[in-house]
Amino acid sequence: MRLRRCHCVVIQPRERFTIDLELMLRETPRLASTFEWVALAAHLDAEVRVDLDEIAVLGKVSAHAWTDRSQLEYEHPTQTLQSLEAKGLLVAEHTATANADDSVRTTHWEGLSAVAHRHLRWRDIDSERERGRFQELVEGEPLAHLGPPPATSVERGPPEARIALPGTPASPLAALMARRVTCRNFDPVRPLAPDDLASVLGLVFGARAEATVTGVPVLKKGSPSAGGLHPTEAYLLVRRVDGVAPGLYHYHAVAHALEPLRQLEAAEADALALRFVAVQRYFLEAPVLVIYASRFERNFWKYRQHAKAYRATILDVGHLSQTLYLAATERGLAAFFTAAVNEVDIEAAFGLDPMTQGVIGVGGFGHRADTREEIEFDPLHAVWPA
Ligand SMILES: Cc1cc2nc3c(=O)[nH]c(=O)nc-3n(C[C@H](O)[C@H](O)[C@H](O)COP(=O)(O)O)c2cc1C
Repeated sequence: MRLRRCHCVVIQPRERFTIDLELMLRETPRLASTFEWVALAAHLDAEVRVDLDEIAVLGKVSAHAWTDRSQLEYEHPTQTLQSLEAKGLLVAEHTATANADDSVRTTHWEGLSAVAHRHLRWRDIDSERERGRFQELVEGEPLAHLGPPPATSVERGPPEARIALPGTPASPLAALMARRVTCRNFDPVRPLAPDDLASVLGLVFGARAEATVTGVPVLKKGSPSAGGLHPTEAYLLVRRVDGVAPGLYHYHAVAHALEPLRQLEAAEADALALRFVAVQRYFLEAPVLVIYASRFERNFWKYRQHAKAYRATILDVGHLSQTLYLAATERGLAAFFTAAVNEVDIEAAFGLDPMTQGVIGVGGFGHRADTREEIEFDPLHAVWPA
């Protein structure tokens, strides 16, 4: 049996605070600190606690070459090796842990990005509950606790030194952008027409042309994409679209077609939608949710272990989301985007491996309700009367 170190791991010092009753009773009550090291590996969902002996051995085992266990046992304490293997930081050949580690290697992740992506994902987070906890912590007065926010704009000289620019002329694009307001009041009853679904998906995610550039097959789409690679896939949770059964789908960018993955009962679709958007109830009534999932393997195939590659995949999603906002607004629909999502739950529903196809955010679109119950940022009264 041969072993090697996992591909990407970051060791972090941690200080945990606990209330020590004895210290509390002293004149100046203090929190007690405990210090520990944790390992965050790109192929493991959970961080693991490690000690200094384990860290020392981990630093001496190759992550590239496989080494015979007997050779390692000759060089290092068997107990430490066993503990590292049990924690998944040393990987044995032909095991499930090795497969998970392989998906990080073969996708060509840059190490820090891989660890950040894996460990910043949410599972079963309820943002309503979190908001309540935050309000309790700041005693309902966030500004008093956070202090004043940084200014809305930056000034790099005195006002008299500024060169005034002409105003932005009226145009169809300016008018369209003025009506773009993140929607938190979707019509809870009105379904989406199939034409609206098809048009928005086609404009945002559909391929306008297929080509080969320097031997690489690429697609032309309505938004820019790093390296022209278009790694972002649209997965859908359809809830109320005429003629389309509620369920999970994948949008095929070249065929401009829906690929059915799983049909859902209405109650199950509701529960999944709520979980996907971390219990932001105001997004629940959107008739269709769009999961922006980045096929990292496609971008990283070109930008291997590249410091900017992960960032580029996220920026791609930002461009697509703005295009979706505008495409929906143009059809008289409303849209939203949220980064507060339970990635792990979405991966489970769609069968996605987080290191090869990772969830970046969730959007949605549909008809806006006639009445406003939840806040929308519309200071110009472009969609809501004053
Ligand atoms: C990256 C990103 C993340 C966002 N996350 C959330 C979110 O978690 N919840 C939410 O209600 N809105 C979210 N929004 C929407 C913003 O709150 C919204 O854009 C902002 O309030 C300005 O309003 P506007 O889009 O109508 O101009 C997000 C927007 C972006 C671009």
